[in-house]
Amino acid sequence: MFKIVDKQELAENIIEYTVDAPDVARHHHAGQFCIIRVHSHCERIPLSIAETDPQAGTITLVVQIAGHSTKELAQLEVGDAILDVVGPLGRPTRIGSPKRAVFVGGGVGVPAGNLMAREMKQAGAQVLGIIGFRTKDLVIYEDKLRAATDELIVTTDDGSYGYHGLVTEPLQQQLEAGESYDLVITVGPVVMMRAVAEVTRPYGIHTIASLNPIMVDGTGMCGACRVTVGGETKFACVDGPEFDAHQVDFPELALRLEMYGDEEIRAHEAGPHECRLEQSLNESG
Ligand SMILES: Cc1cc2nc3c(=O)[nH]c(=O)nc-3n(C[C@H](O)[C@H](O)[C@H](O)COP(=O)(O)OP(=O)(O)OC[C@H]3O[C@@H](n4cnc5c(N)ncnc54)[C@H](O)[C@@H]3O)c2cc1C
Ligand code: FES
Repeated sequence: MFKIVDKQELAENIIEYTVDAPDVARHHHAGQFCIIRVHSHCERIPLSIAETDPQAGTITLVVQIAGHSTKELAQLEVGDAILDVVGPLGRPTRIGSPKRAVFVGGGVGVPAGNLMAREMKQAGAQVLGIIGFRTKDLVIYEDKLRAATDELIVTTDDGSYGYHGLVTEPLQQQLEAGESYDLVITVGPVVMMRAVAEVTRPYGIHTIASLNPIMVDGTGMCGACRVTVGGETKFACVDGPEFDAHQVDFPELALRLEMYGDEEIRAHEAGPHECRLEQSLNESG
């Protein structure tokens, strides 16, 4: 069991949890994620890690309440415990040694950029952050990203805060003005990551996208997280979650994310899921 030591509501339907998970905190690197299970009847929820404190043995998760499982998570309070926290999973970010790098984050993808931007700076890069939200009330992690980068541009779709427009616009403006970058990392909605890839493609800038397909086991066995990258099938949980954004089949990823919507609704209407494997293990003592 993994005890919740802090809970903060960052914005409407966005919660930050600090969880006691010493092994994950000790071994985690930027770009990796964990899979949690709130209780034994709950689906697994893959989540990026926004912060670690190896001394205190804690990790920080920022969760957008999206559907059934994240609603169950949201009911947990400080002092409650999460049944499983499995991680760190996936490959760490391959930052290399860029001179000038950009982190482009959107919505609940922004917190993952906290550790990525810090590692880019540690690698010696000058780091520009561009983070975007629908509206001012949904702006999260601005202070953390400001501290982790050399310069930060905040955008809102409705112009209620910062630059009025999409994250791709300041990025495009920088490139058109002749600013040169050798690495762009993007985390956020599929449509945003795809647009970022299209902006950097003509400039030949190495661009990494952290993909968020549906995941089940997180071990490369079930195939749920299958993505196509450069014409090859990859499993995001073990081969990723980060891939060359210019090679990712984003339309396929978007389709696969929508694929199970109806089943999700039917499954939750039918009541809690009992894992038959777990049941038979319990019965056999
Ligand atoms: C590697 C990885 C890291 C992630 N990190 C975070 C994170 O830090 N914070 C966070 O809030 N979410 C993150 N997600 C997405 C999160 O796992 C899903 O939102 C969650 O599993 C939805 O579960 P649910 O039962 O509450 O919603 P569901 O009922 O399963 O789905 C509700 C809605 O969310 C959409 N959805 C479901 N799964 C995903 C997904 N994988 N990505 C995007 N949309 C999805 C569905 O299409 C549907 O519209 C991450 C996903 C991956 C694969
Ligand atoms: S989540 Fe099952 S193979 Fe990746």
